[in-house]
Amino acid sequence: MSQLPLGFRERYGAALDAYVADPSDDALAQAHEMGRLAVTAGIGVAEVARLHFELVGRHVTAPEGTSRPTQRAAAFLAEAASAFDDELGELRRSNEAMKQSSLHLDELVTQGTERYRAMFDDNPMPMWIYDRETLAFVVVNEAAVRHYGYAREEFATMTLADIRPSEDVPALRDNVARASHFDEGRMWRHRKKDGTIINVEVRAHEFQVGKRSVRLVLSNDVSERVRSEEALRKTEEQLRHAQKMEAVGRLAGGVAHDFNNLLSVILSCAELMLDDLKPVEPMRQEVEHIRKAAGRAADLTRQLLTFSRHQVLEPKIIDLNEVLANMDKMLQRIIGVDVQLELVCAAALGRVRADPGSIEQVIMNLVVNARDAMPVGGKLMLETANVMVDEERAREHFGTNPGPHVMLAVSDTGIGMDRVTQARIFEPFFTTKERGKGTGLGLSIVFGIVQQSGGSVWVYSEPGKGTSFKLYFPRVDEAVDEVRSTVRPATLRGTETVLLVEDDEQVRAVARGILRRHGYHVLEASNGGEAMLLCEGHARPIHLLVSDVVMPHMSGPELARRLAQIRPEMKVLCMSGYTDDSIVRHGVMDSDIAYLQKPLTPETLTRKVREVLDGRGAG
Ligand SMILES: Nc1ncnc2c1ncn2[C@@H]1O[C@H](COP(=O)(O)OP(=O)(O)OP(=O)(O)O)[C@@H](O)[C@H]1O
Ligand SMILES: [Mg+2]
Repeated sequence: MSQLPLGFRERYGAALDAYVADPSDDALAQAHEMGRLAVTAGIGVAEVARLHFELVGRHVTAPEGTSRPTQRAAAFLAEAASAFDDELGELRRSNEAMKQSSLHLDELVTQGTERYRAMFDDNPMPMWIYDRETLAFVVVNEAAVRHYGYAREEFATMTLADIRPSEDVPALRDNVARASHFDEGRMWRHRKKDGTIINVEVRAHEFQVGKRSVRLVLSNDVSERVRSEEALRKTEEQLRHAQKMEAVGRLAGGVAHDFNNLLSVILSCAELMLDDLKPVEPMRQEVEHIRKAAGRAADLTRQLLTFSRHQVLEPKIIDLNEVLANMDKMLQRIIGVDVQLELVCAAALGRVRADPGSIEQVIMNLVVNARDAMPVGGKLMLETANVMVDEERAREHFGTNPGPHVMLAVSDTGIGMDRVTQARIFEPFFTTKERGKGTGLGLSIVFGIVQQSGGSVWVYSEPGKGTSFKLYFPRVDEAVDEVRSTVRPATLRGTETVLLVEDDEQVRAVARGILRRHGYHVLEASNGGEAMLLCEGHARPIHLLVSDVVMPHMSGPELARRLAQIRPEMKVLCMSGYTDDSIVRHGVMDSDIAYLQKPLTPETLTRKVREVLDGRGAG
């Protein structure tokens, strides 16, 4: 018999006493409530009833006139008895249900097992159970069979080591030996039957079957995710590299620009002095030194400009096979006898738009590097091909657009490079060669020229195995331009009128001096506006405009365009040590304007002036 809750008897008794003293409906309801509470609390109707009799009994013998409570108590008893019946009935019913359900238990157990098996077998993720000691597969699911390509019977004869690349097997054994009860999300490389290596994230859970420890493994193929993460990392790296090169390029270009004006003055003055000094004059030697040093500085400046993509290129439509064929003999000479040269030229090679002289320089620089990488001989291969760059490859190689390209590959069997070196090779002045052997500008120049021509450079190299540089140029459909060879003018002198426009006063003075010495009549202006006024006020013919390209307010080409309207017969020669994207797009000059690269020397200036006046200079 269940125990009455603490103080219940007292509270119930008090409720009944209150009712006897004041037989109101409220007091009766209070007493009933107490009884009902006891029943719902599971105390049992019988116990409540017994208590009721006991307590009510005290009141049945109450004095005359108090019979009403007795009737009420009898009604309550009837109510309690029916609740008792209800409780019993409920008990009986649940007993019945239990009997019924135990009949279905076996069926349920069978159904449950099947459901669990289906959860394993039909699971879309590859799963298996393996023996921890032998690593043998105990059972594999359907997804594993589909994903890895082995049949169930094959799996039955295999161990975990068979789905690992061999170099990962020691790590696998080590990991299983140290594995905890539950392994969460470890990355591994697995090998499918067809040899494909996939990246998987593995979760494992260990349990016992009899005396054996087995592990349930869930393998999630994340190769696609790993690939895209890797591609993203590469793109970021390339972007950072491109930004770095851009910054270094801007710096180099800026320095080169100012240097070219200074060198124009130094070189030209040295040349002019040498012209004036007699061969026996003792000062001649010093001036020669000045000229030589300035010449070397000019070379360096030109290389920096090339790297910074501010050199002015004069692009033509060219056939790279022809360029290679023309260079063949020279290349043989460069590489020497120990290196074997192989040319593989694609038939029907597409054309590209590039500056032929610069492309030759690119090839030379790559070939010299290849030779240096093969000190004891080897093989140098130059190869051309038509290549279609698809979206994916373009994404992989920053700065390359999808579409038809012409590829030029320069490959060697030399010492190769590690990744650290590869990351820096295009930086100006980066060299691994000993002092005095390399300036570290070769590849910077390659990089600058190829980029400026709209192409890109891809490098493949492995230490000890060799290196391959692949240059990709966008393919164009136009016919090859005829490359006019410039005929050396017979004389460097003339009597024509030249309008010289240059904002740097010293350079202007030197250029004026050179031209006058060579017989020309020189009009000069320090900017475009002045030049236009001068033209308007000059009644006689002006044969040639020699103008700096980069000037404040009005650029050289812009001045030329405006003057062409009032003096259409006047020829134009632009000179610059630097180009700016806003004036000459990507440093590629309008091909019908003749162009002279600074620093000036008396020789280069007078020759170009003569060429343009005689109608051979442009293009
Ligand atoms: N084919 C190659 N094989 C191995 N390493 C190379 C190859 N080409 C370039 N390198 C590496 O890249 C570095 C930079 O090359 P780069 O042509 O810019 O300069 P350099 O050859 O050292 O000097 P420079 O060309 O100015 O005389 C080299 O010093 C070398 O370490
Ligand atoms: Mg080099």
